[in-house]
Amino acid sequence: MNIAIIGTGYVGLVTGVCLSEIGHDVTCLDINSEKVEMLKKGISPIYEPGLEELMLKNIEAGRLKFTDSHIIGLKDKDVVYIAVGTPQSEDGSANLSYIYKAARDIGQNITRDVTVVTKSTVPLGTNYKVRELVMANLQDNYLVEAVSNPEFLREGSAVYDSFNGDRIVIGADDAEAANIIEEINKPFGLPILKTSISSAEMIKYAANAFLATKISFINEVANLSEKVGADVSEVAQGIGMDGRIGGKFLNAGIGYGGSCFPKDTHALVKISQDHGMDFHLLKSVIAINENQKTMLVKKAKERLGSLEGKRIALLGLAFKPETDDMREAASIAVSRQLIDEGAHVVGYDPIAAENAKSILPEEVQYAEQIEDAIKEADAVFILTDWKEITEKALLMSGLFMEEPIVFDGRNCYTAEEAEKLHVEYISIGRSSVVPTGEKEQESVLAVSF
Ligand code: UDX
Repeated sequence: MNIAIIGTGYVGLVTGVCLSEIGHDVTCLDINSEKVEMLKKGISPIYEPGLEELMLKNIEAGRLKFTDSHIIGLKDKDVVYIAVGTPQSEDGSANLSYIYKAARDIGQNITRDVTVVTKSTVPLGTNYKVRELVMANLQDNYLVEAVSNPEFLREGSAVYDSFNGDRIVIGADDAEAANIIEEINKPFGLPILKTSISSAEMIKYAANAFLATKISFINEVANLSEKVGADVSEVAQGIGMDGRIGGKFLNAGIGYGGSCFPKDTHALVKISQDHGMDFHLLKSVIAINENQKTMLVKKAKERLGSLEGKRIALLGLAFKPETDDMREAASIAVSRQLIDEGAHVVGYDPIAAENAKSILPEEVQYAEQIEDAIKEADAVFILTDWKEITEKALLMSGLFMEEPIVFDGRNCYTAEEAEKLHVEYISIGRSSVVPTGEKEQESVLAVSF
């Protein structure tokens, strides 16, 4: 099978690289020629563990190519994946203009019968529209089939997930088209579920909406736990042991971010409205998430009073660890709130700081090293649970701050750890730790080394 992929964003690039890794000939197409030049050299525009190694390997093996020409990229291709962005429009719906452009480009440039596979997350019915558009633009009498093959990769572990995911969903109304895509994916060795096109489109939205619901649910349980003296980590463990509930995605925190959950929950609410239905539950999930982003600043104000002139270290700026993606990151809302309160904000992120600079308010300053952010801070906020942060933030606060106080939006530490290091520790859905007695530098050092 000759495969082309339109769009070398996060989904398209990972898909292209992993399909070449299992032995397929893949050409990735992107209209951005500068990006294509970088990709040809094996340089990934995104930080994704393991991706560049596989890129280089498969470029060298001649299985993975990049081009900015639709004529070259779509010539003699049997299967074309669409993996372009579907950003959120102002009314919450998914903007499909890139998808439709890709469909027209396929129609105009394809040179044989083709199966068009949509990887992008698209509202119900879009795959039918894609097939129509491809057909309307054909230069000759080719057969066109559409397949919905939604993506479930998580940023930061996308390569791992490609080979270890829970399932591959293939939505097709034509059995032959479904078989073609099944054969392509078989070497991944993952369970394959074949469905109709509409079900596959719905599965993607429903999966993300359900995971977002789990997070908002546990966040509300966390907020209540604080009031009644329960510990949300213990509660999550206790409910998660019930196989019907499952222990994953029950980490309370400062809300979900990223390129998928916020966009897809809004889109599903909009799709429901368009079909005369009010998705009350999902609207609440979104509202809870917005509220959750304000929790750390509320706690800081309750504890410290005015934040005017206070120096706050923001540790972890990306929306989650192992990525440089800043989309809908908690740091955006939290830094804005802090600056509005008159605080001085110093951000630190092991990888995402450069991206953060163009997204966070211009008042935010940046530290090169984690200790530089913590030294001289009046309070430390943990926003992303990068390994470096979970290893060092509490310890360094204990060492370098005169009156160490940490507001942890990711529940990285236990009460015992905070007590040992003599750090005042305020997290989500758990009792605060207020150290007693005098802080002895020796005892902190004894714990650390
Ligand atoms: C998500 C889906 O997991 C993936 O299947 C889909 O293809 C794309 O969207 P991603 O956005 O990369 O993946 O990250 P994910 O690990 O799911 O985390 C999303 C957000 O939820 C992050 O902000 C994370 O911090 C937050 N989260 C996750 C929690 O707050 N608590 C949890 O228990 C899990």
